[in-house]
Amino acid sequence: MILELRGSAPSAAETELLVVFAADQNTSKAKDAKPEIALLTSDSSVKQAASGVLGGDEFKAKANETLLLHRPQALEAARLLIVGVGKSAKATPHDLRKAAGTAARFAKARGIRSLTVLPPENFSQTDSIRAIAEGAIIADFDSDTYRTDRRDTSLASLAILTSQPANAAAETALREAAIVAESQNFARSLINEPSNRMTPTILGQRAAEVAAEFGLQCEVHGADKLRELKMGAFLGVAQGSDEPPALIVMRYEPAGASAQPVIGLVGKGITFDTGGLSLKPADSMEKMKYDMAGGATMIAAMRAIAQIKPSVRVICVVCATENMPSGKAQKPGDVQIAMSGKSIEVLNTDAEGRLVLADGLHYARQLGATHLINAATLTGAVSIALGQVNAGVFSNDEAAYGQFTKAVEKSGEKFWRLPVEDDYRDQIQSSIADIRNTGLTRYGGATNAAMFLKEFVEDTPWVHLDIAGTAWLDADKPWIARGPSGIGVRSVIEWACGYGEK
Ligand code: BES
Ligand code: ZN
Ligand code: ZN
Repeated sequence: MILELRGSAPSAAETELLVVFAADQNTSKAKDAKPEIALLTSDSSVKQAASGVLGGDEFKAKANETLLLHRPQALEAARLLIVGVGKSAKATPHDLRKAAGTAARFAKARGIRSLTVLPPENFSQTDSIRAIAEGAIIADFDSDTYRTDRRDTSLASLAILTSQPANAAAETALREAAIVAESQNFARSLINEPSNRMTPTILGQRAAEVAAEFGLQCEVHGADKLRELKMGAFLGVAQGSDEPPALIVMRYEPAGASAQPVIGLVGKGITFDTGGLSLKPADSMEKMKYDMAGGATMIAAMRAIAQIKPSVRVICVVCATENMPSGKAQKPGDVQIAMSGKSIEVLNTDAEGRLVLADGLHYARQLGATHLINAATLTGAVSIALGQVNAGVFSNDEAAYGQFTKAVEKSGEKFWRLPVEDDYRDQIQSSIADIRNTGLTRYGGATNAAMFLKEFVEDTPWVHLDIAGTAWLDADKPWIARGPSGIGVRSVIEWACGYGEK
């Protein structure tokens, strides 16, 4: 997609589709309050073109509501699309990101592949540019990769109109928005692949390709190295599969960055989770191809970090394997010794994510990580707690968590904090080993998993993202296609880059 900032008056913009935003400015909370619709522009020709239709009941400027006008008078554009952002008093750049995405998907569905967008005047120029570019690029992704009747509806160009002369801040906002959103789509493209086309080996190859393209160091290790490192927890999961595991290590080491901090990104890369001998039911087992979403999130974040170039060291560790039942598979009750030396009673082979992460987190610390973040489709329990709206976030450190809340303010992704504290420790106590890989009870399953991970981060500041309920969208939304959501990518990038700000 060609992205451009265009210093043109809206009336003079020659385009297939001109997009403008509208809000409801009625501040009354009464249910029957009549919307007071206002276009978020002072441009008189756009106002004139829309004037006929905004007085009636056809359009209420609700969030992501659309209204299309053909051959708008007084404009060079072939069509004018008005997109609602809801109550203007509450509208944020995140509402604008969705509204821009809605416009892009509206256009794509109608075979319109070039858009020109007029930013709303009530946001800062850089906030608008970021939100519009991210929204349109994220909206451009579709998951129908293997349909032979697939039509290419990808967007050819996005122009954002600027009234202020082009400036460095605006250009940077556009460039970074493209890096971040394209990296989110990159993660989605990895997650979307079925397990026969996304084995641990292939995931490792894709990471190596990204590293070569954007100038990162990358090593992909096999089972021999896992044995050498004594990664008993990771190996225990991998031993049931005929596909070799991959330990993916990526490094971003900018010249001139101080030795510390070292930011460690760790991802769960289960390319297919059958549950192992604690086999999952057949119903929707196919979705377990997305059990490597956390790993894809971290590879994608490295892809962005390599281009944004923050002044901070970042390493990434992804533990990739299948979780399969077989004659070689680990069995319920088996005890594995993790790389850290801790012994683990494996009561349920389906709680495999925490096992591979135990060794991934420990290894990241051994490689020098001083601040850790991990992403994983870890527990069904997180969606029992939070539904499919918020992802779970856990942390053992207020400063690292504070940095994460700042990251989320920028990314607009939805996370909700859940507890990870020592009162829950008895849930993972084993009688035969140091810890067990499932809670003693079913209650608080997402926290029990977090407590397990905490054993391996010890005192290192750490943020744990449980994205099991949010990494896959079952239905289209106006601004994003169904399939892999790419949740976490934007927040992890912001979190890591935040440590590079002086
Ligand atoms: N990959 C699953 C978690 C999951 C569930 C992801 C649904 C996406 C959607 C994980 O490995 C798992 O199976 N967890 C078990 C843990 C249990 C055995 C303690 C779960 O949540 O049921
Ligand atoms: Zn599992
Ligand atoms: Zn899993």
